[in-house]
Amino acid sequence: MMEKSFGGIGRRTVLKAAGAAGLMAATGAWAAGSRKRYAVVGVGSRARMFTNAMTGKFRDTSEVVAICDRNAGRLARAVKLITETGASQPRGYGAADFDRMIRETRPQFVIVTTTDASHDDYIVRALEAGCDVITEKPMTTTAEKAQRILDAVKRTGRQVRVTFNYRYSPPRTQIKELLMSGEIGDVISVDFTWLLNTVHGADYFRRWHSDKAMSGGLMVHKSTHHFDLVNWWLGAQPETVHAFGSRQFYTPETARRMGLSGPHERCLTCPEKQKCNFYFDLAADPGLKALFLDNEKYDGYYRDQCVWRPEINIEDTMNVMVRYDNGAHLNYSLTAYDAWEGYHIAFNGTKGRIEHRIVESGGAAGAAKVQSGSENVSIRVIPLRGQPRDIEPIIGKGSHGGGDDVMLTEIFGDAPADKYKRASDERAGAWSALVGVAANKCFETGQTVRIADLVTGLTPPDRAPMPDRRAPVPMPVRVKIP
Ligand SMILES: NC(=O)c1ccc[n+]([C@@H]2O[C@H](COP(=O)([O-])OP(=O)(O)OC[C@H]3O[C@@H](n4cnc5c(N)ncnc54)[C@H](O)[C@@H]3O)[C@@H](O)[C@H]2O)c1
Repeated sequence: MMEKSFGGIGRRTVLKAAGAAGLMAATGAWAAGSRKRYAVVGVGSRARMFTNAMTGKFRDTSEVVAICDRNAGRLARAVKLITETGASQPRGYGAADFDRMIRETRPQFVIVTTTDASHDDYIVRALEAGCDVITEKPMTTTAEKAQRILDAVKRTGRQVRVTFNYRYSPPRTQIKELLMSGEIGDVISVDFTWLLNTVHGADYFRRWHSDKAMSGGLMVHKSTHHFDLVNWWLGAQPETVHAFGSRQFYTPETARRMGLSGPHERCLTCPEKQKCNFYFDLAADPGLKALFLDNEKYDGYYRDQCVWRPEINIEDTMNVMVRYDNGAHLNYSLTAYDAWEGYHIAFNGTKGRIEHRIVESGGAAGAAKVQSGSENVSIRVIPLRGQPRDIEPIIGKGSHGGGDDVMLTEIFGDAPADKYKRASDERAGAWSALVGVAANKCFETGQTVRIADLVTGLTPPDRAPMPDRRAPVPMPVRVKIP
């Protein structure tokens, strides 16, 4: 039987949580009012990184005062788990009570970790209510939504931070350092290939991400990270985009060619689960079971939908060309059915080339997560007509190549001023999401898209200083030219 709703979550859960909180207050474990106040909207997988930080390492400076989710089961579970840490006693609210949550619990910051297409709505409402916002990537999924956010920031004078954690992974910061040093001169072209394997890559086709209306497709949901990296690495703004995209692997036809009778609804009830090596056992992972399977009754969302379904409308094969406002060209590709997972990128400059590669998962099945060690990360500088130089990569610890930890310290802790300017605001969020939006448009029309035609009033973000593109360039060493 469902519990009776009370502030969006079950009353029994609230009473239990209040008991634990009362104990913490009595023992003086937190001092009311001395910490920064946060509310979190969308308490699925990703939210835990933020709530764990606030109830763990940063519990003395941060308080989770409220959480909100449209799924009553996930909401109740998150209230319980956070309260059990003894660090915070959040109040739980359903999606319809978001504005009331802000009025009643007065957070200074709202952290947005809902599905991508709903970010803009919560960002704008939080800004209007006088809060600053920390939002997960992609900041948003369409040009219209990006415009709403840009306008709301101007209107309210509040701040938005987009958590581009990829920037913080130490080897990527090393690349930024090398580019800033001018060692390869001005970057004229970039060649960037990102591979998703048939384990992690396939997962996008099982979840809400497989619906473009919710995620913007991989061009927005996933590539926003990659376009942001290039925008930040180059310290330049994307100007013009041309792209091709299609879905060729995750299709009913591929299922049949692999010997299945065709697509089914989901893995849990699949009549061909023994035959399909893309079968995903949602019940086998206790964390995912508790988050999704046990809470299906509240919203009907299946976390294990068939990857071969005909209604999937996102691409698995994408090629994009971007011209930047400083003249640089980017050649980018993303595929989602690869034999290994990771990326390689090359920057071609007036003085040389940087090659950088990270293998995240490898193996014949493409399944095993590779230990992040220096053997899986490489950085090489090749001067024009000179000897290549391998650079020892700095290997981070923890999720997303160690980037998450560094970023969380900057958000919740005391981090020194950052010469790489990794913190991103709504402008960086828009510049990267709009490359994906432009690519999506191009998939439909075949026409080149100018970012300036998508939104108005978008200015360059604050950037770390890059080498002067008008500075003299040394003549490369003389070699015998046949
Ligand atoms: N930076 C990264 O590396 C990274 C990694 C994973 C996810 N993310 C981002 O984090 C966000 C969340 O992803 P996730 O993997 O946690 O998804 P998820 O499906 O695990 O969780 C989303 C949660 O939001 C709730 N929700 C959805 N729509 C809502 C609405 N309109 N109102 C209130 N609640 C709503 C769902 O019920 C669910 O609990 C996404 O934007 C995703 O792109 C970022």
